[in-house]
This record gives sequence, structure tokens and C-alpha cells, in this order.
Amino acid sequence: MTLKQYLAERIAMIDRALDAWVPAETVEPETIHRAMRYSLFVGGKRIRPILCMAAADVVRADTPGIAEAAVTLEMIHTYSLIHDDLPALDNDDLRRGQPTNHKVFGEAMAILAGDSLLTLAFQVLGSLRQVDATIRSALVVELAAASGTVRGMIGGQVLDIEGEGQTPTAELLEKIHRAKTGALLRASVRMGAIYAGASPADLASLSEYGEHAGLAFQIIDDILDIEQSSEALGKTAGKDLHQQKVTFPAVYGLAESRRMAEEERQKAHAALVRFGDRGTRLLEIADLIVDRKS
Ligand code: IPE
Ligand code: IPE
Ligand code: MG
Ligand code: MG
Ligand code: MG
Repeated sequence: MTLKQYLAERIAMIDRALDAWVPAETVEPETIHRAMRYSLFVGGKRIRPILCMAAADVVRADTPGIAEAAVTLEMIHTYSLIHDDLPALDNDDLRRGQPTNHKVFGEAMAILAGDSLLTLAFQVLGSLRQVDATIRSALVVELAAASGTVRGMIGGQVLDIEGEGQTPTAELLEKIHRAKTGALLRASVRMGAIYAGASPADLASLSEYGEHAGLAFQIIDDILDIEQSSEALGKTAGKDLHQQKVTFPAVYGLAESRRMAEEERQKAHAALVRFGDRGTRLLEIADLIVDRKS
């Protein structure tokens, strides 16, 4: 199977699982379900659930039900984007090529749509039927920690917001990026491995892969914000400079940022060596993360 076919197949599974779990637009109160579905189904690369499923594939050939665990990452991610775009945070009008959630549904409903996706993610994890309770609780802990305040997504968002206009130092930059984006990418890989019952050694290598792929992901996000158009990105380009964000290009310049993303790609690849052929898919996904144009 080509990478393209693999991704298309996984995305179809992800969309099916999301559709099954998110209440229909006709379910009361309709507005919130419309708002949740709007942001979830308006697009998105689905890179986090894909990483989760691909990591599980490294550990075991068959992991029934994995898509349900994987979509909890997309729920958390989409909630983080809805809130990231709010006027009080990055104040963005465009996301995934469409008006942002609060532009369509208003700020109150956008806040609640984010809240409800966050809550639903843990309902889904708690309801997983194809893994035992030990694995279910390990998945809950993993996702909560990666989304949380201590070196997790929220912690990173706090530093990102407080960092606006501050002198962009290498130390602050690394702290922000590892937390606001790296943590959830790393957790994506780890959750797939945990779901599949990975050995401690396999989990350690996959975590290392996830850490490097995660850092590469945000370095590239920062580069694309400068190099690409809003049309290509589906979100407002050039925002970081405008909002004086602490980014890789701000600290190192574009060329050095590219080189650093390349270095993270090599380190991600290196973490997969012990898996041999089984690691090919994750290797290709690391390439996709670094070579992407949106
Ligand atoms: C954008 O994430 C926000 C970051 C954490 C950098 P993605 O680039 O994965 O956005 P979608 O899901 O494809 O829209
Ligand atoms: C967002 O980072 C990280 C999140 C936790 C949502 P950015 O603010 O750089 O994401 P974009 O560029 O708006 O997608
Ligand atoms: Mg932001
Ligand atoms: Mg933003
Ligand atoms: Mg960005």
C-alpha cells in the first residue's frame, strides 16, 4: 500500500469514528452539536490520530478499535484550535480554510464547543471496549497529561501568550514548542503504542520518535506561517510576526530553522531503526511532517 492509500484509509476510519461519537446536529441542544461538527469536519490533516494508528501498527499487526482511541486526540486538538483562535488568544478569522468557530457561532458557543470536545474525548477513552481497564486508564492519564498545564498543551499556550512581545530566547522557545504542540504529538504516538500493548523498550523508542516528530511539526508550522499564503495554509499567514510570537524563525532565522527541522527528522528516523521494516510508515510520516506545505 502506498503512503497516500494508507493515509486515505486511516482518514476514512477517523472520520467514521468521529461521526459515530459526536452527537448529530439534530440532537438537542442542536447549536452546540453543529458547532462541534463544524470545526471537526471542516478539514484538517488528522496527523495526530494518524500517528496514533501508525504507532499501534508498529507494535502489532491488528489492533481492533484503535480508531476510537485515536479520535480522542483529534477532539482535543480541535478544541485547542477553537480556543486558540478566540479573540482573547490569537484572534483568528480563518481556520481550515473556513471562518473560525467563533465567527460562525459566536464566542460563547465556540468556548462551549471547545469544552465539549475536551469532555467527550475522555468519555470515549473511558468507554473503549476492546482494551482492558489498565490500558484504558493509562490512555486517560497520557492524554490528560499531554493536554495539561505541566509541560502540556495548556502550559505551552500560557507561555505562548505570555511570551508575546518578549525577547525571543532559545530557552523560552524550546519550552513553548515542546509543550504547546510537542506534548500532544508525542502522546499521539505513545497512545497508539500503549493501546497495542507495547513493551517498555518499544514504548521508549516510539516516545523518542514522537518527541522529535513533534518538535519538527511546530518548527515547520512557524516556517509555513512566514513562507506560505493564507489560501495555502487555510489559516491567516504572517500572524506570528504581527503578534510578536516567540517562534523558531524569530530566534534562529528561516534557514537555520529549516536545518533544525531537518535535524529533528533525522533523530525521529534514528529512533525507528530498531523496528526495521515495521517502522517504515512512521518514517514516511516524519518526512510528511517536515516536507508539508500546509
Ligand atoms: C495546527 O495544527 C496547530 C498547531 C498545533 C501547530 P495542524 O497543522 O495539525 O492543523 P490541522 O489539524 O491540520 O488543521
Ligand atoms: C497552536 O499554535 C497550538 C495549539 C495548542 C492550538 P499556533 O497558534 O501556532 O497554531 P496556528 O498557527 O494558529 O494553527
Ligand atoms: Mg497560538
Ligand atoms: Mg494560533
Ligand atoms: Mg502557528
